[in-house]
Amino acid sequence: MTQDIIIAPSVLACDFSKLGDEVEAVVEAGADWIHLDVMDGHFVPNITFGAPIIKTIRDRTDKVFDCHLMIEPVDLYLAEFKAAGCEVLTVHAEATKHLDRSLQAVRDLGCKAGVALNPHTPVSVIEHVLDRLDLVCLMSVNPGFGGQRFIPEVIEKTRRVKALIGDRPIHIEIDGGVDPTTAPLVVEAGADVLVAGSAIFKGDGVDGYRANIDAIKASCA
Ligand code: DX5
Ligand code: ZN
Repeated sequence: MTQDIIIAPSVLACDFSKLGDEVEAVVEAGADWIHLDVMDGHFVPNITFGAPIIKTIRDRTDKVFDCHLMIEPVDLYLAEFKAAGCEVLTVHAEATKHLDRSLQAVRDLGCKAGVALNPHTPVSVIEHVLDRLDLVCLMSVNPGFGGQRFIPEVIEKTRRVKALIGDRPIHIEIDGGVDPTTAPLVVEAGADVLVAGSAIFKGDGVDGYRANIDAIKASCA
């Protein structure tokens, strides 16, 4: 099962003073995607970075840039993040009035369309947009900060999403508090993309990051 698991380190937990080097290091350590947490201080109580910063690290790797947009409004900015080099654009269901329109806009740009659901948001919000989706991101913490504790209700939620998507080629991504203890629980429930910030970047340099990525993968084997 592990070979199908995509590990997406969140740079939120890296040393921002050397962002490009950190991306290169974590890729060398075995990252499959790079998860980019964009926060606006409005939809979530924290501010991180936007498209201009992402653009500066685009040439450091050819791995997929998985952009998690915690911004409201969101539609206005989609083209900017596509232009910065993001392949996956994930919008929050709670941050757009017209989810169907936002997902169409992402696909029209030629990006993969993701929807993120906060811990309290019912799975039913995606029921009628399944054919516009490439990824469902289930938040296993309340968005805004790294290093928070995993909310176990997401395990049952993952099972429900898995049942809902059936055989459609839609990734299920888990974001928040993923480590070797929690990863196997969500993978067993059907998740195939694991975002991890602090559990990966707590190490030092390539060797440390590699040990942390390997530990998460091994826990799911
Ligand atoms: C939270 C972010 C997550 C977070 C993950 O709003 O979306 O991607 O950085 O960090 P950890 O793995 O430390 O919970
Ligand atoms: Zn995220």
